[in-house]
This record gives sequence, C-alpha cells and structure tokens, in this order.
Amino acid sequence: MRPEEIRKDFPFFEKNKNITYLDSAATSQKPSIVIDSLKEYYETFNANAGRGSYGLSAKSKEILENTREKLKDFTKAGHDYELIFTKSATEALNLVSYSYGLNNLKKGDQVLISIADHHANLVNWQYICEKTGSELKYFYLDENLNLDLEDYRRKLNSKTKIVAFTGASNVLSFEVEIAKMVEMAKEYGAVTVVDATQLISHRQIDVDAYKCDFLAFSGHKALASQGVGCLIGKKDLLNKMDPFLLGGDMIEYVTEESVSYAEIPSKFEAGTLDIGAIYSLNKAVDYINHIGYESIEKIERNLFSYLLEEIEKLDFVKIYYDPSHSHTNLIFTIENIHPHDISQILDYYGICIRTGHHCAQPLHRYLGLNSSSRVSIAFYNTKEEINRLIWGLKKVKEVIYGA
Ligand SMILES: Cc1ncc(COP(=O)(O)O)c(C=O)c1O
Repeated sequence: MRPEEIRKDFPFFEKNKNITYLDSAATSQKPSIVIDSLKEYYETFNANAGRGSYGLSAKSKEILENTREKLKDFTKAGHDYELIFTKSATEALNLVSYSYGLNNLKKGDQVLISIADHHANLVNWQYICEKTGSELKYFYLDENLNLDLEDYRRKLNSKTKIVAFTGASNVLSFEVEIAKMVEMAKEYGAVTVVDATQLISHRQIDVDAYKCDFLAFSGHKALASQGVGCLIGKKDLLNKMDPFLLGGDMIEYVTEESVSYAEIPSKFEAGTLDIGAIYSLNKAVDYINHIGYESIEKIERNLFSYLLEEIEKLDFVKIYYDPSHSHTNLIFTIENIHPHDISQILDYYGICIRTGHHCAQPLHRYLGLNSSSRVSIAFYNTKEEINRLIWGLKKVKEVIYGA
C-alpha cells in the first residue's frame, strides 16, 4: 500500500488539507477504525468494566480482557508475562520505579540508564535513587550518536540492580539492540526496563525474544486514543511487587484494619480504567496488523532516507543522527535561529514539528544544545509533506535573514 492510499484511512488529513503533520513522535494521527471505535464504545457498550453484575458491565470487562490478550499476542509476550493497563507509558514506568525500585533498591545499589532516555524513564529513577540512597549511573553515546554499548558494558557491574533504556529514542534516530542489551544486564542479574514508546508503531515488538523484565508503551503513539498505556512485566516479579495505586478493583478482601490484594493484573489496575481508549487500542492493533509492520518499516525507511537526502542539501541546517541506524525521528538546529522561531514560522505555513528539549534535557545538554527542532515521520506521511518541510525551512531562513 502506498502512503497516499493509507492516508485515506485517516480523516485528519482530509479535514486538514493545509496541515503538514510531522510530529507523530508526540502523538500519532488516528485511522477511522480507531475514531469509530470510540463512538461505538460509548454508544453501545458503555458501562464500568466488571463493577456490575449485568451483561453490559461484563461486556466492558470482556473488551478489557480481549484487548489484554490481543496486545500480549501483538507484542509476543508469552506465558511468563502479564500486561497491565495504565493511563500512559509515564504511569507504566512510574509503576515499575515505585513498586519495584522503591521496595528493592538500597544504599550501594546502582541503577543504570541511558543518557538518551525520555524524562518518563529518567526523572522517576532519579527520584527513586534519591529515596533509596542508591546511585544513578548513565551510559552515553558513541561518535555516531548511537547508544554506546562499550560504555554500557563498562558501567554494568554486580552493584547494577536495574537497567532502564529506551528501545528507540524520541530525539535521535537510532535503533537499539534490545535483546543484546538485556542479555548483558542479565549477566549481572539486573532487572531490565525497556521503554518501547517510540518503537510500538514502527517495529514489531518481541518481548519473548528481548527477555526483558518490563516493557512500557503508550497507546496514543500507536494510533490509539490518548488515555491508555501498557506495562508488560514478568509475572514472577509482578506477583512479588506491592501495588502502585490503591483503591477499587485491586483488592480481594478489605476489613477496617487490613487488605489483601487481588491477583495480577488487577492488583495493578486500581480505579476505573479508560475502557473506551483500551477498545480504541484494540482497533489500532487491528489496523497495524492490516498494514503490517513490514510495510510500515519499508514506507518509513523510504520516507526517512528521502528526508535525509533533502535536508542534507540545506547547508544552513545541522542534523544529528546515526547514518547506520536511521529510524523515524530527526532533530536539527539552524545557527542563530531559535527552534521556537523555526516552529512558529513553519506553523504559519501549516507545518507542525516539535521544538524544545522533547522531554530529554540531559540528552540535549550532553549534545551541547539547549533545545532543537524535531521532525518525526510515520507511514501515513508523504514525500510531498517532506518537500513542504524543506520549502518551509528555506522560508525560515528567508524570513530571518532575508532572501
Ligand atoms: C520515549 C518516550 N518514552 C515515554 C514517553 C511518555 O509517553 P506518555 O506521555 O504517553 O506517557 C514518551 C513521550 O513522548 C516518549 O517519547
């Protein structure tokens, strides 16, 4: 399928003919099947899942459990794993740091994370390390701006209790050898946490092959609506962990003095879940399966090469990427033009890109930058949109420096 044909499945593009959307790393656009699923859910199935003894409530519960099984299948998470619904990747990663980290780390232990991690997989570890007296260590990048596996190897040791890293950066265009990194961490018995938020809509996830302990992602980056995230975790660890949130639906018995908790996954799903969003994620999975990861990857590789080819022709634009590991996000700077000015001028022409630090301030500091501009593509983008961006960047230069 060509991107032009795929676009017809996304009403956003039909309704926003003047918009060039190049910010899918922030949130993806949604196909009709996802948008319609929200309407369908609220028009026909809406009830609180599992709270009532009537059929409609059971139907919501059925949607929840069907989606759980579908997602486990989709991410190749086998019998050793359970999937917990959260509201976002941020909440999923916080669940791990609070429920596992806070209770298991102690003074003298180390947590090893990559400098390229999003604040959602960084600030939480800073906090937990501070609370437990353990040490937060970073591994850095190689000269190609890829994760430096030699540095990673050097920093791993018997004190390393948790290793957390992104499966694909939201800033730099690299891909990560997840299985290899998990294997290296396992040599020291460290618990591994993979942030797959930027991976889920671009590459087949294979939890069984990664053998990681935890893997997190958000639905809204993968065509679903906002409001649902997932944590996939090893059952034996989840069983031993304390709950993260406490309240309705995560208990077995409650007396005035004490509580016993429900089994996983309920133990980690306190309160009313966003079943509408979960249903939309179910449909997003159907849509991704319909297009196929192979096609998605092929289209995106093509588009990304084209983007690089064209942007490299602009001698006033500096790009930051690893040529051997291109993915879907590209940051750039233009000397003496603030990224916010770049995005404001582009916005005037309907071109949406992200500017700032992209929730990765330590990474920007490491790169010697305060902020940058980011283009992120998805399989529904077209070469025409990239041409429009290139035209827009020339316009930025013209507006600031004159023709
Ligand atoms: C790599 C990565 N991890 C985590 C997150 C947090 O996702 P959310 O805001 O959906 O919780 C993002 C969002 O941009 C991200 O790019």
